[in-house]
Amino acid sequence: MTDARQGLSGLLDTEAIRKDFPILDRTVHDGKKIVYLDSAATSQKPRQVLDALNEYYERHNANVHRGVYTIAEEATALYEGARDKVAAFINAPSRNEVIFTKNASESLNLVANMLGWADEPYRVDSDTEIVTTEMEHHSNIVPWQLLSQRTGAKLKWFGITDDGRLDLSDIDEIITEKTKIVSFTLVSNIMGTINPVEKIIRRAQQVGALVCIDASQAAPHMVLDVQALQADFVAFTGHKMVGPTGIGVLWGRQELLEDLPPFLGGGEMIETVSMHSSTYAPAPHKFEAGTPPIAQAVGLGAAVDYLSAIGMENIHRHEQAITEYAVKRLLEVPDLRIIGPATAEDRGATISFTLGDIHPHDVGQVLDELGIAVRVGHHCARPVCLRYGIPATTRASFYLYSTPAEVDALVDGLEHVRNFFG
Ligand code: ALA
Repeated sequence: MTDARQGLSGLLDTEAIRKDFPILDRTVHDGKKIVYLDSAATSQKPRQVLDALNEYYERHNANVHRGVYTIAEEATALYEGARDKVAAFINAPSRNEVIFTKNASESLNLVANMLGWADEPYRVDSDTEIVTTEMEHHSNIVPWQLLSQRTGAKLKWFGITDDGRLDLSDIDEIITEKTKIVSFTLVSNIMGTINPVEKIIRRAQQVGALVCIDASQAAPHMVLDVQALQADFVAFTGHKMVGPTGIGVLWGRQELLEDLPPFLGGGEMIETVSMHSSTYAPAPHKFEAGTPPIAQAVGLGAAVDYLSAIGMENIHRHEQAITEYAVKRLLEVPDLRIIGPATAEDRGATISFTLGDIHPHDVGQVLDELGIAVRVGHHCARPVCLRYGIPATTRASFYLYSTPAEVDALVDGLEHVRNFFG
């Protein structure tokens, strides 16, 4: 054990937790145990979630909201039960405020399209402004660019400071009386920065703008209470929170979901249809056209049960300890520059860095030979790389199953990379 590891507190019992995740026992490249440090891209899945998926398909598979037979009713109960679980997980005032989508990108596109087709007072047009930030994942930039191009609304954004924080020094000029929507990430997917939500929301509320929060990198890692946040929309995805791929969530305030128009039309989302016109089902079904991701929702319900049993406060505490240790150890590596907050404060367990002038793809490849899985590239947040004048970063991201020994493995691996490239 390194000296730095002594005194680490708040860690979870990872030995027990890792037993739930079969993939963590995998070896690659001639018996090297996998060190999975890419949970910001997708998390691994515990046996409990895999079993729920299997059980659903083996015993209850049927389409939902349609059949009168037993297994169709069971499938519907499981699907709607997952909605109850998610609503409780995020402290939603009503289960009807939880819309299932395919992923966070679809959730964010849904908000942009609701506003794009809305009437007053929500209408986005050439007299209005949309605000986002330079720190966003592409999924929280491109939908707003599309909306801006379609409506003529002006797209504005907050910049980033040298140390990886949002630059809010011009908040009153960026968010104005013309702002219709402010959409920003709670936690940066590339730098791990945790953003000052309250300050932004306060200003948005002053001017009557709606607020949409991308919580994709927050929901898996900390308590997410939509009532405390006071946003209007919150988007996240299942696969980063030990759930399956193919399921995302959009939470929205009930009165907004009642007022705003649907984006996709089709089965499930209607009340009546004639050849001339249709009326729509109440939310959330109004926004869930077609056969929904049933098994995936059931899997997400199991994921929420799994995380809740461990406790989101405990998971957050564990990650804070791992992050503090990782920042400290990474800063010991010569030529390593952290892109983003180089401290453990107000940051999540995702750390991007460069290593001298070694290209991140080379870093990633050499680490892979050691069994260490990190993500390299611009991480779908290219404006951040442009901001710092770099083509890419190496990104290590930690989760409830990550251990200090894995941080050590990464640091040793980076020494190996440096030696390898002379
Ligand atoms: N959004 C995922 C990431 O940041 C894919 O890696």
